Amino acid sequence: MTTTPESGTKQQGKTLTTSQGAPLRDTNHSLKAGPRGPVLLQDHHLREKITHFDHERIPERVVHARGAGAHGTFVGYGTAEKLSCAAFLADGVETPVFVRFSTVAGSRGSADTVRDTRGFATKFYTSDGVFDLVGNNIPVFFIQDGIKFPDVVHSVKPHPDLEIPQAQSAHDTFWDFVSLHTEAQAHTMWVMSDRGIPRSYRTMEGFGVHTFRLVDADGGTSLVKFHWKPKLGVHSLIWEEALLTNGVDPDFHRRDLAAAIESGAFPEWELGIQVFPDNEEQMFEGIDLLDPTKFVPEELAPVQPIGKMVLNRNPTNYFAETEQVAFHPGHLVPGIDVTNDALLQVRLFSYIDTQLTRLGGPNFSQIPINRPHADVNDMLRDGFHQDDVHEGIAPYHPNSLDGGCPFMAGAEGSARMPFIDVPEHIAEAVKERRNPATFDDHYSQARMFYRSLGAQERLHVQQAYSFELGKCASEAVRARQLQALANIDADLCAAVALGLGLPAPSADREVQEREPSPAVSQVGASWPVD
Ligand code: HEM
Repeated sequence: MTTTPESGTKQQGKTLTTSQGAPLRDTNHSLKAGPRGPVLLQDHHLREKITHFDHERIPERVVHARGAGAHGTFVGYGTAEKLSCAAFLADGVETPVFVRFSTVAGSRGSADTVRDTRGFATKFYTSDGVFDLVGNNIPVFFIQDGIKFPDVVHSVKPHPDLEIPQAQSAHDTFWDFVSLHTEAQAHTMWVMSDRGIPRSYRTMEGFGVHTFRLVDADGGTSLVKFHWKPKLGVHSLIWEEALLTNGVDPDFHRRDLAAAIESGAFPEWELGIQVFPDNEEQMFEGIDLLDPTKFVPEELAPVQPIGKMVLNRNPTNYFAETEQVAFHPGHLVPGIDVTNDALLQVRLFSYIDTQLTRLGGPNFSQIPINRPHADVNDMLRDGFHQDDVHEGIAPYHPNSLDGGCPFMAGAEGSARMPFIDVPEHIAEAVKERRNPATFDDHYSQARMFYRSLGAQERLHVQQAYSFELGKCASEAVRARQLQALANIDADLCAAVALGLGLPAPSADREVQEREPSPAVSQVGASWPVD
């Protein structure tokens, strides 16, 4: 089964018809009682045409509504073969992919070059089913626990009265949230850096953010973080360019991606992994691997290339492909598993839940762009938009009728490898609502990232904070955010305070005591770029 909309049979005939195939004589005039009307209710063609039109739009994504997609291929290098039995990572195996890049906060019609996190979601149509790597262009996230996701998203969304996204009130709510919920400071620092205004989707890194678990053929495990490295290197706009581009060409990134592919300048990324031992602590060099607000510097764990992706085909139909594609971090294949990261665990629930509404029921995996390129025998039945015509008796397992049971993967007679549920020791089985103490440091990584930047990039960060905080009317919120900056870096805080015309506070005493300034780090600088 192909994943392009050309596989559809509609709109092929030479004669215009109704949706039921009845030939039409006229689609330009409604049926009226005389030439001056009124219009008659019995005009079924009119009502079908208008009713279908009325329902052309589906709900946009609650986040990441604005996106651009492309098809391509992924080829494994075989370098991960010892760590993972995932078939698509084996040497030379070619796997079709579909990628959707996105902004997070804006609606479907918003502009491309706004300051925001970018989504970088990849669907691998592997021989063992679909694997989705649903990542961002920033290696850390705003929150440590998925229960905070509605809060962080609501804080960047426009207020109900006027729905003006860039209203001062929206700046107030964003800075209010991140200054109160200080675990968001590291992600905010990346958004305020040049990473928040990429030059092109083609020049963005991508990150799986969470720690994942790889499983080898013998059930051995290791923990990994996924990285996409663009062959063109990482490039950003400067703020003035971003502002002008928003006005001159709001579709700048979408156009850039499509034009590059159209002209044969196919964008390429290498997929890489940072590898950590899978032990009970799940810590690495003092960094809690289950804390998605933390990254692991590449000097401590180099990124090892495991494959290459080339995007070489534009979508044929934006709605059928880019809009209807349904990514899910729980779409895993044998050899790749999730960890207990509490953010990732909530995502496992959230995506399918939202897609049940967005894509009109439980059968969206039958939409061509979402169809696996592997045999499917899922025993699921019926529901809205069921396209398959099932035969035989109702499915249940075990059964001895109707040809007997299909094989379970891994059993004699099945050629398929099973998904391995890795046994895991649950250390502290006490029901409670709190984070581990290792999640408490909210500033050192923001500091590390800021200090890894060059002088010009730091200036951009200072200007971005001054500009964005300058839109925030609440003095208390501005003062609280300046306090967070003081806890991150005194020079940054002083520069932003100067920009805002406010006094610069000093770091909180407990932060000074807990976090002596770390050495300067070269975040992301170790990757060779062609
Ligand atoms: C899209 C929820 C965290 C990356 C979405 C959507 C929801 C959602 C509801 C819309 C999906 C759809 O309509 O198909 C959440 C929740 C999170 C979370 C509840 C935290 C608990 C993250 C994180 C990342 C991420 C940490 C990155 C690592 C994305 C991307 C998309 C997306 C890239 C767009 C996918 C596409 O292009 O269709 N998220 N998200 N999200 N999310 Fe998350």
